[in-house]
Amino acid sequence: MSEGSTKEPFLQLRGIVKRFPGVLALDQVDFEIDLGEIVALIGENGAGKSTLMKVLGGVHQPDAGEILVEGRPETVHKVSDANRLGIGFVHQELNNLDNINVAGNVYLGREPRRLGLIDRRKILADTQPYLERLGLDISAGTRLDELSIGQQQLVEIAKALSMDARVIIMDEPTSSLTLSETDCLLAVMEELKAQGIAIIYISHRLGEVKQCADRVIALKDGKNSGCLDREKINHHAMVTLMVGRELDAAHQHPDTEKVPGYFQVKDLVTTCYPGKKISFTVAAGEILGFAGLVGAGRSELAQAIFGVDKALGGTMSLDGRPVMLNRTKAAIDRGIYLVPEDRKKTGLIVEMDLEKNTTLASMAQYRKAGLIHARAEAAAAREQIRALDIKAPSGKTIALNLSGGNQQKVVLGKWLSMDPKVMIFDEPTRGIDVGAKGEIYNLMYKLAEKGVAIIMISSDMEEVLLVSDRIAVMRQGEINGILSRPEFSEEGVMQLAVEETEERHSA
Ligand SMILES: Nc1ncnc2c1ncn2[C@@H]1O[C@H](COP(=O)(O)OP(=O)(O)OP(=O)(O)O)[C@@H](O)[C@H]1O
Ligand SMILES: [Mg+2]
Repeated sequence: MSEGSTKEPFLQLRGIVKRFPGVLALDQVDFEIDLGEIVALIGENGAGKSTLMKVLGGVHQPDAGEILVEGRPETVHKVSDANRLGIGFVHQELNNLDNINVAGNVYLGREPRRLGLIDRRKILADTQPYLERLGLDISAGTRLDELSIGQQQLVEIAKALSMDARVIIMDEPTSSLTLSETDCLLAVMEELKAQGIAIIYISHRLGEVKQCADRVIALKDGKNSGCLDREKINHHAMVTLMVGRELDAAHQHPDTEKVPGYFQVKDLVTTCYPGKKISFTVAAGEILGFAGLVGAGRSELAQAIFGVDKALGGTMSLDGRPVMLNRTKAAIDRGIYLVPEDRKKTGLIVEMDLEKNTTLASMAQYRKAGLIHARAEAAAAREQIRALDIKAPSGKTIALNLSGGNQQKVVLGKWLSMDPKVMIFDEPTRGIDVGAKGEIYNLMYKLAEKGVAIIMISSDMEEVLLVSDRIAVMRQGEINGILSRPEFSEEGVMQLAVEETEERHSA
């Protein structure tokens, strides 16, 4: 807290301890925030950020420590206790219900009733203003599964707003938002702050933290590792508190020889934009970045290539030979893999342990005469855990209990243990900390050096500009332009993402 303030801050956590089997997740952690303040909570993957917030949000019971609101000790045994105290939580992993509409999700479990029946009209009417406040251009009656992950995340924020929360916890709210959506959220946060709401902001995007935070509190290995007041917040200071050492110099983008036309997609039509055709090529050894706003159709394109979403038309070829559309097995047989955006749905089997998850896709390699070679499998998993620096008590840890960023690394490890020809990464570093991001870029560079054609969908502007050889910018289901390295600029990408262009570059 800033010096000289005499009154108690609105909310204090003191000496919080939380143990999980094999892990001391929080070790005597202190945290405080005042109304009208934005405090960023930073730390590497597994540092304990989400756990601390779950203690505050009534999801986890601490083993020791206390929570004080306006100086009074409070018990927060369950989520409803937290809500009663004015604490709203936007979780890192989405937990909305897919098959009901936006308004239903916002008022889930506390639906206003009329004559004993849920008053659907009121729910819809009450929800709409919150959506508008967040710049979400959708109707409250839209089914949730029709929204992108980014939009779903905004719905969670709308829900917190609708509960009149005085403290809003945002656990990586922007990790799947992009460009203008993020700007809009940061503007909303400023507005909420001006209204006297306290915001706890967890993010691995340090640029955003610098932009919005009044104060930074850092955790490292479950302990407080320092705080920074507004004027002291900069990239270097934050990294030092999080990592505790200087990071290795960023690796160079490799200048490998590219074999043009290695992977070709021609006139592909997705179910999401049935009127639009997509064509592009990726050279062997090339990283083709895909930028665009949420809803531009990038993930749908990836899923159509991999065959998990139906393609309505088009052709693909790899190394001069056609690849059958709409067959995931055909894609996998040819070495075309997708690392999906939503790791819980398609990337990770959360009930399984780490070893099983890392080797899942390459299981065939570890089978002999129908038996899984447990020892070979365990060794391969250990190697992946080491190579990706996955933080977990052991290979037997259940994936669900890993921190968000470490789950993402497991998903990556699973595919990297194969021998890919084309790798499609959908938001590969979503939720991944600054050190591990570098490791993942290196992994991509290594794959590129081996001649793999890489498609990288990313909403992180810095990342797209850093890692890509060329950037394809999508807008409303089409490629609006492809930029090559000398043409790279943030404005250039942004412009193609939002504007209609007359002359279309073709791939
Ligand atoms: N339910 C659980 N059971 C067992 N261990 C857990 C559980 N939840 C978290 N952990 C462990 O507690 C530690 C802290 O995890 P936490 O999710 O709080 O990290 P984080 O700082 O939010 O990381 P990230 O940036 O990756 O989201 C990790 O070692 C994690 O594996
Ligand atoms: Mg977390």
